[in-house]
Amino acid sequence: MGKNNITVREMTYDDIDEVLRIENNSFSDAWSREAFEYSINAEYDYTIVAEYDGEIAGYAMLRSSIDTADITNIAVDEKKRRKGIAYELMKSLLAYGYSTGVTTYALEVRSHNYAAIRLYEKFGFEIVGIRKNYYSNPVENGLLMIRGTI
Ligand SMILES: CC(C)(COP(=O)(O)OP(=O)(O)OC[C@H]1O[C@@H](n2cnc3c(N)ncnc32)[C@H](O)[C@@H]1OP(=O)(O)O)[C@@H](O)C(=O)NCCC(=O)NCCS
Repeated sequence: MGKNNITVREMTYDDIDEVLRIENNSFSDAWSREAFEYSINAEYDYTIVAEYDGEIAGYAMLRSSIDTADITNIAVDEKKRRKGIAYELMKSLLAYGYSTGVTTYALEVRSHNYAAIRLYEKFGFEIVGIRKNYYSNPVENGLLMIRGTI
């Protein structure tokens, strides 16, 4: 089964239970329900889920400020990884960003999160800085990655 089973759409409140399950399995410093509710409602946020064979398999969001945007979160159900789901989510975020005039994208990633770093590099992000001890639980450096020009 390939990419044909992946569909991307905007996140709704009804998705949050399933999204939180993936979030809590994916991160030691997980977002709260309120953080997802905020992102769904925020005027400058684009908040999406990916379905794989009709089930929620991942999610991602973009927070824009005029021509610059942050990718604030992305995760895929650990049982459905390496099927191109994050790739489709990233494609949707960037396509939406470009349609609204975003030219520069930024994100932070834990310095040992090789899977995510590879994913971002695939989309042209480059490491431009290190934020020492940016993360807690466990404490870890954050890498600042940028795509586009500052
Ligand atoms: C990072 C993450 C979102 C990738 O999701 P995914 O759906 O498995 O990724 P995809 O299948 O779309 O992979 C796209 C590309 O990313 C890279 N990649 C993804 N997982 C990888 C891994 N385990 N090792 C190396 N590269 C990886 C590869 O370049 C891959 O392309 P390829 O399969 O053609 O080699 C997923 O591992 C995850 O949810 N991790 C936990 C949450 C997290 O760390 N989020 C990022 C926070 S900054």
